[in-house]
Amino acid sequence: MPKPDRVQREVVSYVRRSARMNASQTKAWDTYAQRWVVEVPARETSTSIAAEASVDWTSTFGREAPLIVEIGPGRGESLVALAERRPDCNIVAFEVFVPAVASTLSRIARHGVDNVRIVVANGEEGLALLVPPAGLHELWTFFPDPWHKARHHKRRLVSTELADLAASRLEPGGLWRLATDWSDYADWMRETLDAHPAFENLHGGWAPRWDERPVTKYEARGVAAGREIHDLTYRRRP
Ligand SMILES: C[S@@+](CC[C@H](N)C(=O)[O-])C[C@H]1O[C@@H](n2cnc3c(N)ncnc32)[C@H](O)[C@@H]1O
Repeated sequence: MPKPDRVQREVVSYVRRSARMNASQTKAWDTYAQRWVVEVPARETSTSIAAEASVDWTSTFGREAPLIVEIGPGRGESLVALAERRPDCNIVAFEVFVPAVASTLSRIARHGVDNVRIVVANGEEGLALLVPPAGLHELWTFFPDPWHKARHHKRRLVSTELADLAASRLEPGGLWRLATDWSDYADWMRETLDAHPAFENLHGGWAPRWDERPVTKYEARGVAAGREIHDLTYRRRP
C-alpha cells in the first residue's frame, strides 16, 4: 500500500488526504491491486511520477487498442460503466486517492471488465510521461474538484497548461470529454478550451449530456442541490 506523503512541492489539483481504507477497501486492494493497478516509480511524493518512468500499454493490456485516459475517476462509477461500453479500448485512469482506487477495484471485479488499468498518480504527470505524443484516442475529466476561491483557481485541473498537454497527446480528431456541476467552472472550461487553437468545440457550445455517462455521486449531489450539469466535448484539430 502506498505510504502517506511528507512533502508537497507543486501546485496540484487535489488535497492530500489520509489514505486510510476501510476493511472492504483493504480487501479489494489486497485482492486486485496486483492485477489492475500499474506501479510506476515516484519522485519525492507518492502521487508524483519519476521522469524516467515508462509503461508499455500494449504489453500491460496484452493487446494493441485505442487508448483512453480518465483523470480523477474517484470511485470509478463512470470509468467502469464506460469501460463496459468500450470493450475495444484500453482505458487508463489516474487517481491520487488510494481508498477511491480500492473502491474502483471492487467495482471492476463486480462488473467483470478487464480493459481498465489504474495508476495511483497525478494524471497531469501521467499524461506527460506515460502517454506518447498523439497516442491518445480520448481524454475524460468528469466533475473535477471546483476550487471555488479565486486564490485557488490555479489548482483547477482544467487549465491552458493541461490543454497544451492534452493537445500534444490526443491523436488528430481525438476527443476530450468534460462535465461539471459548477456553472462558474463550466464557464472557465469554455473560456479556456474555446480559446485554445488546437481544440474545436464539437457542439459549438454546451454538449448534450453524454448519455453513456452514468449519474455519479457527484452529479447526483449537484442535481439535488439545484445545480445545472454541463457537458463539453472538444476535438483535437487535425
Ligand atoms: C470531485 S471527484 C470526481 C470523481 C469522478 N470523476 C466522478 O465524477 O464521480 C474528483 C476526483 O479527482 C481526483 N483528482 C483530482 N486531481 C487529480 C489529478 N491531478 N490526478 C488524478 N486524480 C485527481 C480526486 O482525488 C477525486 O477523486
